[in-house]
Amino acid sequence: MAFLADRLAAVKPSPTVAITARAGALKREGRDIIALSAGEPDFDTPAHIGAAGKAAIDAGKTRYTAPDGIVELKEAIARKFARENGLTYGLDQIIVGTGGKQVLFNALLATLNADDEVLIPAPYWVSYPDIVEMCGARPVVLPCPAEQGFKLSPAALEAAITPATKWLIFNSPSNPTGAGYSADELRAITDVLLRHPHVWILSDDMYEHIAYPGFTFVTPAQVEPQLHGRTLTLNGVSKAYAMTGWRIGYAGAPKVLIDAMRMVQGQSTTNPSSISQWAAVAALDGPQDYIAESRAAFLRRRDLVVAALNAIDGLSCPTPEGAFYVYPSIAGLIGRRTPSGVEIASDADFVRELLEATGVAVVHGAAFGLSPHFRVSYAAADEVLADACARIARFCKGLT
Ligand SMILES: Cc1ncc(COP(=O)(O)O)c(C=O)c1O
Repeated sequence: MAFLADRLAAVKPSPTVAITARAGALKREGRDIIALSAGEPDFDTPAHIGAAGKAAIDAGKTRYTAPDGIVELKEAIARKFARENGLTYGLDQIIVGTGGKQVLFNALLATLNADDEVLIPAPYWVSYPDIVEMCGARPVVLPCPAEQGFKLSPAALEAAITPATKWLIFNSPSNPTGAGYSADELRAITDVLLRHPHVWILSDDMYEHIAYPGFTFVTPAQVEPQLHGRTLTLNGVSKAYAMTGWRIGYAGAPKVLIDAMRMVQGQSTTNPSSISQWAAVAALDGPQDYIAESRAAFLRRRDLVVAALNAIDGLSCPTPEGAFYVYPSIAGLIGRRTPSGVEIASDADFVRELLEATGVAVVHGAAFGLSPHFRVSYAAADEVLADACARIARFCKGLT
């Protein structure tokens, strides 16, 4: 009898964590490392949010809470959905979790059976297929190449839906490409979904606020209110307010789903941290200046990185509409060799050799389901990004 569960057989350790760990090991050896592999803002949590967390400790708000979150936070989330997304959710249609990741996990664990299929446009956030696998269901990956702006076409969606399809996971702006769907593009997707009433939509809106000029964020239940009754609208404070370590995510969804997710959560973490929940109330209800300030910094960095990478022979870097990632193609470098003779046959070879030769850590496209690309997280200081791009340029120039 095997000790480890069969359900782990198809699950891979997070490649982003693995590369960040390798970069950390090289750093400890004294190497000069630039890690552009992790997906988190490099800013500090705004002071008023941290102060709300401290005040919660001082006020003794340090006990278990209701599994689905404190009423004050759920009310703040309902206000946020109404104010920013035009969505109406009652308090019994909202749940708070330990990060968006736990909310996603709860939703899938609460709904997936063995033969269910989950449609996942690729490139995708690394966790989607693995969580589906852990739930014993089947991820169905839908390739969305750069020529399509990394976006799902309505025809590809229509062709992929079967009687076994339970969910479409939708993520705009996207990790890892930064691609964002306009209202018209999203409507073409929701029009398909309207014709298939058994398919639910899990909209991961985590990067909502990192949206650049020319792109307006929209979410499926807003674009097509008829889908409200089968949409889970997922969001969180990690990326919007530089709160990755506080671990607070949330969702709005029909009560039948929220009730099931509350049951799953009640038997796992019980509730998200009480202290973090009070900090999240301050984030959602307090001053929103951080959002515009960080967006301006990310926009400047996006333009810096896109220009620098497109100036490199062999790379081609689309300009993203949002988030803090770029996803350049290395198609022009496949088959070339490093000065020591190693062939770059894949994006995995590229990122490994780049890290060893230059100290720049990025993540290979295969990890996100679309090769040959790599993901750069540009949530780093401008001068660090300029240095990283110069090192990438030197590395690419050295390939023959
Ligand atoms: C697309 C996407 N969704 C969800 C998450 C989860 O964020 P958290 O669990 O910190 O709320 C992340 C984090 O990297 C992400 O990139």
